[in-house]
Amino acid sequence: MGDHVIPGDIASLDDYARHAASRLPEATWRHIEEGSERGLALAANRAALDAVQLVPRMLRDVAEGSTAIELFGARHAAPILLAPVAYQKLAHDDGELATARAAAALETAMIVSTLSSVPIEDVATASAAAARELGTAPPAPWFQLYFQPAREQSLALLRRAEAAGYGVIVVTVDAAMKRAGFPLPPGVTAANLGDAPPAQHEATAGGRILFGTPLARQAPTWADIAWLREQTRLPLVIKGVLSVDDARRSIDHGVDGIVVSNHGGRVFDGAPAGLSALPAIVDAVGSDVPLLVDGSFRSGTDIAKALAFGAKAVLIGRPQFHALAVGGLAGVAHMLHILRAELELALALLGCAAPEEVGSAHIFG
Ligand code: FNR
Repeated sequence: MGDHVIPGDIASLDDYARHAASRLPEATWRHIEEGSERGLALAANRAALDAVQLVPRMLRDVAEGSTAIELFGARHAAPILLAPVAYQKLAHDDGELATARAAAALETAMIVSTLSSVPIEDVATASAAAARELGTAPPAPWFQLYFQPAREQSLALLRRAEAAGYGVIVVTVDAAMKRAGFPLPPGVTAANLGDAPPAQHEATAGGRILFGTPLARQAPTWADIAWLREQTRLPLVIKGVLSVDDARRSIDHGVDGIVVSNHGGRVFDGAPAGLSALPAIVDAVGSDVPLLVDGSFRSGTDIAKALAFGAKAVLIGRPQFHALAVGGLAGVAHMLHILRAELELALALLGCAAPEEVGSAHIFG
């Protein structure tokens, strides 16, 4: 899994997925792609996007258009962020370092997982070095926190992220009780967690299933969000909200942004797509904080649909693994470039000179 020349027939994110499928070990591919249980929540993500049609607008002057947006005071080249995805060494020996360099080159924010396979300090250093070398001005990377069994462990991770220059904290709240059965191959570890194995997210067989077990007792609650809010002055984004009430509560707890998401269909198989949950949340809290969304966004047209539904930006998950497996740093940079070029075309066809101009008026029907 070293660097490869990017195959000439790759022109879309689906092409990256197709090539990656034949390059990654079968078990790794399945781990990356799969949804939980019957894959209904995963399928819902794609279906929700495909069910939307946008109405193009003609004869508008978009010559001075731009895909750039601002989030928490930082300029992003496009409304596209790299979702936190754990253990990127599964797809390439350089893992998160390659992704960070590509993101810096394309002035895109990378959200680095608690479960990164490279220490978060090294990822931040790689990002800053690439930006210096290339003369780009990317947003600082964001750090995604999974609450650890003890608050001091969570706090230690937060302080490390602050010291390393991360610009935003993302706390993921939808996966504390996820079932995880994939054994990591040799050489891939939770590099930030030292010798402590990652919190076991699996229910044990026999006896109590979940309630009353350490797993359920350690799962965070709203009190932990209140606590976390008090620990940092960085913008705090909550990831994994699907209900209006949870969105309101998040804002009551002082969060600065929300990722509406079903975790790529990997946790609760009864969940709706983030895109489907978005409109009600936009109606309820849309003007209070930026709303981000993820789940199967694979093209510029997909991203335009999120914008039309009121999202400020989207997160891209699995395609990071696909691009890493095919082309390492160059693959991820190319993947981001494809998305941005497709989005630019979609904006132009919608008659919009900026992402903010795409709105509900563009939704057909
Ligand atoms: C994830 N996701 C995830 N989310 C998170 O907050 N922390 C994490 O460490 C991970 N790890 C992770 C690993 C893998 C293999 C996948 C596929 C996903 C969820 C991720 O951030 C995002 O919500 C979804 O992946 C978005 O859907 P798409 O773009 O993958 O369809």
